[in-house]
Amino acid sequence: MSVDLQSLQKIPRHVALIMDGNGRWAQERGLSRIDGHTEGAQSVRAVLRAAAQAGVEFITVYAFSTENWKRPPKEVEGLMKLLVSSLDAYEQELHDSKIRLRIMGQFERLPLLVRRRLQKTLDATKDYTDHTFIIALSYGSRMEITDAARKIAEKVKAGELKPSDINEQTLSGHLYLPDVPDPELMIRTSGELRLSNFMLWQLSYAEFHITDTYWPDFREEQFFQALEAFNGRDRRYGGVKK
Ligand code: IPE
Ligand code: IPE
Ligand code: MG
Repeated sequence: MSVDLQSLQKIPRHVALIMDGNGRWAQERGLSRIDGHTEGAQSVRAVLRAAAQAGVEFITVYAFSTENWKRPPKEVEGLMKLLVSSLDAYEQELHDSKIRLRIMGQFERLPLLVRRRLQKTLDATKDYTDHTFIIALSYGSRMEITDAARKIAEKVKAGELKPSDINEQTLSGHLYLPDVPDPELMIRTSGELRLSNFMLWQLSYAEFHITDTYWPDFREEQFFQALEAFNGRDRRYGGVKK
């Protein structure tokens, strides 16, 4: 049965997604892993459309982890090419829906051509404020937290900050995108029950929605179902039920 968006009382401001299962989706159809990733790119478009329709402000997708560099060079290259061709093909949709693109991760580690192509869209969409689409690229949460600790240590060394003044906001303020609110909902496709080094700090109090659906089969309706599941959750933040 399809979800009635009007019936949803709460819409999360920020939804983060671990897009998993492209390889298995392809394997089940006798296709190549890259075919799976290509079909998965269509799901990203679908989720962006659905999020805009539902009024979700921030969407973060885990597209490539620091650990994914270990994959065969052909697959890594295929993913980088797919990123570039997807930007070429769908940038107009970002403009049509006034969606700002942002990147979270080790930007410098990406190939030059990919950085250049990304930079073009980052610049072209930087003034949009209604919706933000964040791609986690060469992203690893432990690395992000380690980098934050290093930046804080440098400030302490320079005498700009006292160790006794370091609090949770200090740490949050030194992550890659300090101005973005924490995700309230985290969706992982393909049934794996793990975080795979994704937003460990930011997801402390997020609701998790794990679905067996492979990422290429995750489209508007599946996204709305996740929002519906979120509406059924009782968020207590360590307190007692009111
Ligand atoms: C997710 O699908 C996409 C990326 C990690 C880039 P996978 O490629 O991990 O697909 P499975 O898990 O092997 O099915
Ligand atoms: C998580 O998927 C990373 C991304 C979705 C980019 P993986 O398939 O790489 O993670 P594991 O191997 O299941 O932990
Ligand atoms: Mg996987």
